[in-house]
Amino acid sequence: MATDRIISPTTTPIEEHANWALRPQSIDEYVGQSELIERLLIAIEAVKARQKNATDLDTCEHLEHILLHGPPGLGKTTLAHVIGTELGTKVHTTSGPALARGTDLVAVLTRLQPGDVLFIDEIHRLPIAVEEFIYPAMEDFKIDICLDTGLNARTVQIKCAPFTLIGATTRAGLLSSPMRSRFGITHHLKYYQENELIHILERSSSLLAMNHPNDDSHGQIASRSRGTPRIANRLLRRVRDYAAVRADGIVDKQVVDRALKLEGIDDLGLDELDRSYLSTIRTIYKGGPVGLEAVAATLNEDSGTLEDVVEPYLLQIGYLARTKRGRMLTNKACKHLGLPLMSSDEMIENKPTTPVIG
Ligand SMILES: Nc1ncnc2c1ncn2[C@@H]1O[C@H](COP(=O)(O)OP(=O)(O)OP(=O)(O)O)[C@@H](O)[C@H]1O
Ligand SMILES: [Mg+2]
Repeated sequence: MATDRIISPTTTPIEEHANWALRPQSIDEYVGQSELIERLLIAIEAVKARQKNATDLDTCEHLEHILLHGPPGLGKTTLAHVIGTELGTKVHTTSGPALARGTDLVAVLTRLQPGDVLFIDEIHRLPIAVEEFIYPAMEDFKIDICLDTGLNARTVQIKCAPFTLIGATTRAGLLSSPMRSRFGITHHLKYYQENELIHILERSSSLLAMNHPNDDSHGQIASRSRGTPRIANRLLRRVRDYAAVRADGIVDKQVVDRALKLEGIDDLGLDELDRSYLSTIRTIYKGGPVGLEAVAATLNEDSGTLEDVVEPYLLQIGYLARTKRGRMLTNKACKHLGLPLMSSDEMIENKPTTPVIG
């Protein structure tokens, strides 16, 4: 299945457990996303300065609500916990689907202490009914709940402590605009540069007590990690196992190469599904444009999965273009896979009209 791929940016609870020790604990350990980190450092310092003068619960200063969006595995959840640590407050974690009714939200909000962080993962999946409850909570730290129905109906107002909501989503486009507008800081997390991934891998391999010589073995893993820390750490664990069993625990360039070849990953981080996706478009659909549904049917894969877990990286490295008329391959992809290059006639015939990104 596409989601079981070693280079899948999404995760499982078991992997999350294995990853826990590798998570940065403080803002200094959080690598990359420098613009966002600078914005947060300023906001946190400013709020801490104001908190010194706050006297009671009503005037308690809190950090503005933050919306983090971007592809899976780039560090949204990690950052929410790091922010909590920097503020010196507790982070309460929940998710859009877990807040099915208004009362679920009330239960969460009434547990908050002044200044706490409420982290709502997959906030785009918050039911509309709950979204309406959350607006007054975000603005005025109160919730109006309706008790009973018909003639007996009455509204009760419940106050909660001032808190910071951190929302995370991979699908910012699905958030309603009233919801988006209630966040003071909104930021799109970017894919990581290779040197940033190397930095993350160096820290992880020392936490995992790995024995690696001073060569480019981390660079070899970073270049196959699709700009994603979660994938980098996962590949590192696979390499560690391979090295332990087949190479006396020594990790060098050759060992990395052999370990990741065994996993079916090429030197750009593409796996079997990426390769069959690209070659299907070239061989069956002459390089495109072709509709996603058609490619999905040919590959016997779910179109949503292809859109979420295969296409983003191929678009990012310029192997694929999305146009109004469908998906198109680029000659860069053909070269990498050793497929016949597209002739200039095919290129003109297939020329994209308006590129659609994302
Ligand atoms: N900036 C970073 N520096 C160091 N390690 C990081 C960083 N960002 C992420 N990681 C590592 O990558 C793993 C995945 O990050 P995280 O779970 O925070 O991603 P996410 O954006 O919340 O993903 P999802 O959208 O699937 O929930 C973490 O366990 C952590 O070890
Ligand atoms: Mg997360």
